[in-house]
Amino acid sequence: MKAVDWEEASVLFERAPLGKQKRDSEQLRRAFEASYAAVIVYDSDRLIGMCRALCDGEYQAAIYDMVILPEYQGKGIGKGMLDRLCDKLPVENIILYSAPGREGFYMKCGFKKMRTAMAKLNKFMSDPKAGYF
Ligand SMILES: CC(C)(COP(=O)(O)OP(=O)(O)OC[C@H]1O[C@@H](n2cnc3c(N)ncnc32)[C@H](O)[C@@H]1OP(=O)(O)O)[C@@H](O)C(=O)NCCC(=O)NCCS
Repeated sequence: MKAVDWEEASVLFERAPLGKQKRDSEQLRRAFEASYAAVIVYDSDRLIGMCRALCDGEYQAAIYDMVILPEYQGKGIGKGMLDRLCDKLPVENIILYSAPGREGFYMKCGFKKMRTAMAKLNKFMSDPKAGYF
C-alpha cells in the first residue's frame, strides 16, 4: 500500500473542506493510524479521498473524516468509499454525525437519522452557528 503523504492529506481536508481549523499533518497521521479501518483513494499518485472508522471489533463502530477533493465530488466516489469502509467493520451498529448540509449524502448511503443521538463537541462545533446543535 502507498504510504500516505500526511501534508497532502492535510491539504485534502482544507480543500474538501471539512472543519474550520487546519488539520495538523502529524495529528492526522496519528488519528488514522489509531483507527480500526480506513479507505484511502488515489487517482494515479494524487490523494483524492479518505475516511476512517473507530471500532471495538465486536459491537460498535463510528465513522469520521470523510473527505474528497472538490473536483472529484459528485461522481459516486464518496458512496463507494463509505460502502467499502462499512464492509471492513465486523459489527452491526455503525454511527456517524454528518457535517451540516451533507445529511442527504449519508441518507443515500443507507444511514438514518436517530431520535436519541447526543454529543459533547468542541467549542467550534458547539457554536449554534456551526449547525450541529
Ligand atoms: C460529502 C462527500 C463525502 C460526498 O461524497 P461524493 O463523492 O461527493 O458523493 P457521491 O457522488 O458518492 O454521492 C452519492 C449520492 O449522495 C448524493 N449527495 C452527495 N452529496 C450530497 C449532499 N450534500 N446532499 C444531498 N445529497 C448528496 C449524490 O447526489 C448521490 O446521489 P445518487 O446516488 O442519487 O446519485 C463529499 O462531497 C465531500 O468530501 N464533501 C466535503 C467534506 C465533507 O463535508 N465531508 C462530510 C463530513 S461529515
